[in-house]
Amino acid sequence: MAIKAGRLVLLKYAQPERAVVTDILLAALVFAHVLSAMGWLGGALLTTFGVGPNLRKLTQTASLEFNAKILPSMVRFTRAAAALTLLFGLALLGYVYSQDNTYFSTTAGMDASAGIVLALITAAIGFSVVIPSFMKIGKMAASTLEGGQPAPPQEMLTLAKKARTWSMIVLALLFATLAAMVAAGVS
Ligand code: HEM
Repeated sequence: MAIKAGRLVLLKYAQPERAVVTDILLAALVFAHVLSAMGWLGGALLTTFGVGPNLRKLTQTASLEFNAKILPSMVRFTRAAAALTLLFGLALLGYVYSQDNTYFSTTAGMDASAGIVLALITAAIGFSVVIPSFMKIGKMAASTLEGGQPAPPQEMLTLAKKARTWSMIVLALLFATLAAMVAAGVS
């Protein structure tokens, strides 16, 4: 994390004359926002590139069990991290704006605005397509196992392909969001 003139760059919006507690609030919001964004990005990367391509290495039954028992927990973790990123991001925005109501006309504000638009598009795709698709895959895998079928139905394979394609789009958008947010942070 960059340091400017002995202060954290991330604390550039804190008013030096204000109580220390104000700086702590800003630091806590930035910490929570960045930590949850790491969870979102990490969860999406792990699901898309860590787990997906490697499921083929398992037997069909083992792969169904993974999808039925572990995938839903991974998706729930990523969903919570995404929701917290948005929540803490909005709180951070509110704080920064309350310190500087010209924020949106500054370079940092414009970079952050681009990031926010990207983040909202990303979240819309994630919450409406990717998360429901992965959750449905989990349910289909569970009912396939319960029904004693040895292989996943074609419908599940098609859904998995769709979920993977959209999760790659979400990841590309998340990286673009991250670039815009970091640009805002350093400008
Ligand atoms: C609605 C969603 C979001 C809002 C409202 C939001 C808001 C903000 C704001 C206001 C800042 C401070 C920028 C500045 O220093 O001027 C910030 C920083 C940051 N945001 Fe977001 N953000 C959102 C989503 C995201 C997402 C999805 C990611 C990750 C992919 C992310 C990653 C970061 C990072 C890493 C920083 C710290 C940048 C730095 O100081 O180097 N944000 N965010």
